[in-house]
Amino acid sequence: MRKEYVFVEDLINHVGDEVTLAGWLYNKRSSGKIWFLLLRDGTGLVQGVVSKKEVAEDVFTMKDRITQETSLKVTGVVNTDDRAPGGFELWVKDIQVVQVAEEYPIALKEHGTDFLMDHRHLWIRTPRQNATLRIRHEIVRSIRDFYDNRGFTLVDAPIFTPSVCEGTTTLFETEYFGSKAYLTQSGQLYMEAAAMAFGKVYCFGPTFRAEKSKTRRHLTEFWMVEPEVAYANLDDNMDLAEEFVEYIVQRVLTKKKEELEILERDTSSLEKVQQPFPRISYDEAVAILKNNQVDFADGADFGGTDETVISKQFDRPVMVHRYPAAIKAFYMKEDPKDSTKALCVDMLAPEGYGEIIGGGQREDDLTVLRRKIEQHNLPEEAFKWYLDLRRYGSVPHSGFGLGIERTVAWLCGLQHVRETIPFPRTMYRNYP
Ligand code: 4AD
Ligand code: MG
Repeated sequence: MRKEYVFVEDLINHVGDEVTLAGWLYNKRSSGKIWFLLLRDGTGLVQGVVSKKEVAEDVFTMKDRITQETSLKVTGVVNTDDRAPGGFELWVKDIQVVQVAEEYPIALKEHGTDFLMDHRHLWIRTPRQNATLRIRHEIVRSIRDFYDNRGFTLVDAPIFTPSVCEGTTTLFETEYFGSKAYLTQSGQLYMEAAAMAFGKVYCFGPTFRAEKSKTRRHLTEFWMVEPEVAYANLDDNMDLAEEFVEYIVQRVLTKKKEELEILERDTSSLEKVQQPFPRISYDEAVAILKNNQVDFADGADFGGTDETVISKQFDRPVMVHRYPAAIKAFYMKEDPKDSTKALCVDMLAPEGYGEIIGGGQREDDLTVLRRKIEQHNLPEEAFKWYLDLRRYGSVPHSGFGLGIERTVAWLCGLQHVRETIPFPRTMYRNYP
């Protein structure tokens, strides 16, 4: 991959050796005949010790010329040192400057969020942002492993679609060679087709919603993983969702200890995320709100604060099922025991991090589904292919979507989803 330069994360294999590291200057400080540099290479930080006795004159005086984020190559001998960041220290022999950086806009002090977001392309170099995005990567990896190890087939859903999945108010419309197309809100409808072809499937990709509200949980472009299983009912779906979420959380706890420490995430609550998760009906959730003196209109959907009140009753994620059909999407199957309710489930993360999963059992009856499409004022033409799935061997089936950014926010203990994705997109931000 790279022969000449050692990565900081590999220093453990080079104790006592002379190596060259290549990276950027994170910080420097001096104390008389010695100065210290903190080198960052993306895999870690290491302290270099530059002693007047050990290096050439121009290397020793370099301290005054190199600025924060100057790119450089540092050659030295690797030593272990418990007090140094990462546990290693480099006794510097030589330094080569690649480029002296201009005055860096992100100084090592506090900045406002808007300023940092405008400099997101640089901000991702800093330890907290770096740790968050590394945890995101581990979450993505664990998601793929979970489904791949259980025999699910990955089926990619299209980004351009002719059909609405999650309501007409959040559609991004685009011109498509003389007709119109939408950016996908969810791959679900395609996963239903795929489940009939492969039995158990998932898709994982970006999804788009023109969210016009300014909240800490909504992006206009976010990533979702969506499993779908043929012949699975709502209970099977909840079993899968809780096994899945437990798996992700436990993977991050074992593999990303260092990053969680950088973020100062209190992991005791995450350690409790073990099956079984509580399951309550919408009606039971409403009763919780009433008991907590929340002013709540019967039959309404839960808002962010309602979700927080409900989730705070439990020490692990809670699954709320059977919402009123009237406030849910057209594709949800009616509860045969109460036709005003849908066989759906939302999973609310603990500690008030909000809804991370939405899903349920799908309507599999052709007549009912056509009626629903009509009631929702959706054009049947765009759903012809979808209705075919109810014509040719229709079966009960279920699935759900887990939002990656909200999951990252929860596991990292972040109040806002904007830091959970490398380059966030919101109504107010399409830069950098
Ligand atoms: O509950 P939602 O809307 O469900 C669906 O899209 C289903 N079609 C999925 C399925 O059954 N296959 O969205 C699923 C999850 C939410 O629980 C949330 O975690 C996330 O996607 N999500 C968002 N995340 C960030 N910004 C937004 N604007 C989001 N909207 C939904
Ligand atoms: Mg939802």
